[in-house]
Order: sequence, then C-alpha cells, then structure tokens
Amino acid sequence: MDKSYIISQTETFVKEQLGHDTTGHDWWHSDRVRNTASAIAEIEKADAFICTMAALLHDVADEKLNPSKEAGLQKVHTWLTSHLTDQEQISHIMMIIETMSYSGGGGEPMSTVEGQIVQDADRLDAIGAIGIARVFAFSGAKDRPIYDPGLPPRDESLKEEYRNYSKGTAINHFYEKLLKLKTLMNTTYGRQLAEERHEFMLTFLDQFFKEWNQGDK
Ligand code: ADP
Ligand code: NI
Repeated sequence: MDKSYIISQTETFVKEQLGHDTTGHDWWHSDRVRNTASAIAEIEKADAFICTMAALLHDVADEKLNPSKEAGLQKVHTWLTSHLTDQEQISHIMMIIETMSYSGGGGEPMSTVEGQIVQDADRLDAIGAIGIARVFAFSGAKDRPIYDPGLPPRDESLKEEYRNYSKGTAINHFYEKLLKLKTLMNTTYGRQLAEERHEFMLTFLDQFFKEWNQGDK
C-alpha cells in the first residue's frame, strides 16, 4: 500500500467534497488541521498516516454538508473501504471521525492518541487569528450580526453581562465555546499551541470592547 498515493487521492476527494464551502469547512480548514495534526503526531510519536487521513476526512462527514450525520459517515466509510485494505486502519479512522462528529453533544472522549491529536488540531483551528476569521465568516454566512449588546454597554468589567444580551452573535460564540477550547486540549503540545492562540483571542476581545465603548478615544 502506497500511503502517499492514498493521501493524495484523499486530498482530491476532500477538495471535491468541501469545495468552496464558506461556513468554515472549506478545503483549507482540512489542510490546516492535517498540518497541525502531523506536527503534534511527530512529537507524540503517533501514527502519522492515521492522523493525516482522519484530519483530511473529518469534515466530509459533517451533517451540515450531508442529508444526515449517518449519510456523511457512510460516505467516508465507502471511500475508505475502496482505498484501504487494513480493516483496523479503516475502523480506527472511522472511530476518530465519528467521535469528532458527536463531540459537540458531549460524546465519548477520544480513546486513542491519534484521535486526541486530530481533535486537538481541529480545535486549534477554531481559536487564534484563524479561529477569529472563521467565526466571522460563519456568522456572516448565517446572516448573524457581529455583536449586539442589547443594552448600552457601560464599562469593560461588564463583559460577562454583555454576553447575555448577545446570543447568536459572532462575539457571543467566543464566550459560548472558543474561550473554553484551551482547557479541552488532549495533548501537551496541543495545549502549548492553544496558549498563544487563546491569549490572542483575549487581546482581540479587549480591543473590540475598547473600541466599541469608545475607550480608545
Ligand atoms: P469544526 O467541525 O471544524 O470544529 P464547526 O462546525 O463547529 O467546526 O464550526 C465551524 C467554524 O464556525 C468554527 O470556526 C466555529 O468557531 C464557527 N462557528 C460554529 N458555530 C458558530 C456560531 N454559532 N457562531 C459563530 N461561529 C460559529
Ligand atoms: Ni473541522
């Protein structure tokens, strides 16, 4: 089995499947997740092929891009069985993608280091400068506002209070999810990478509220 051939075939398949999605699941998201997963896999001495395949394919099964979650997973399974012969590899990759697709709903924790790595890499792409870009791209694609305080903001210390008045806005998503991702990292290197990205989001939010509140004038 020529691993690099299978990877390049998979790249083509993922590009076709995700194409020009503008809700944060474009080809370049999968490519970044694959690169980050490879970097973590090297340090963790994990199976790089499993990490690469799972990272490339993880969003092909997304229910937002398929009639159902099951149909999406079936599509990935069909692809894998027609390109790999090792059943263990197939079920390992499927397990990672399945667990990731349910993880939003409090699913099972990842049981293998390869799964933990791909999950970390996906979460890392949701934070930092790229994470910020993706939140606003997603919100725009869903016709959601940047921010709406609901009440006239008074001072910086009321940030916690603001979010109660900004459900469904891009800024609210930081408090709802993105600022929590750092604590969910599985691997040591993933946690280390999350640190700088997390700090960058805090700096961004500070500046955002400062400008919003005329604090820079
Ligand atoms: P993935 O499966 O790659 O982790 P998601 O489907 O959870 O991604 O989200 C794709 C992108 O859209 C992420 O960057 C995420 O932060 C952003 N996103 C998801 N839900 C929201 C939301 N309610 N408001 C703003 N951005 C969101
Ligand atoms: Ni993803």
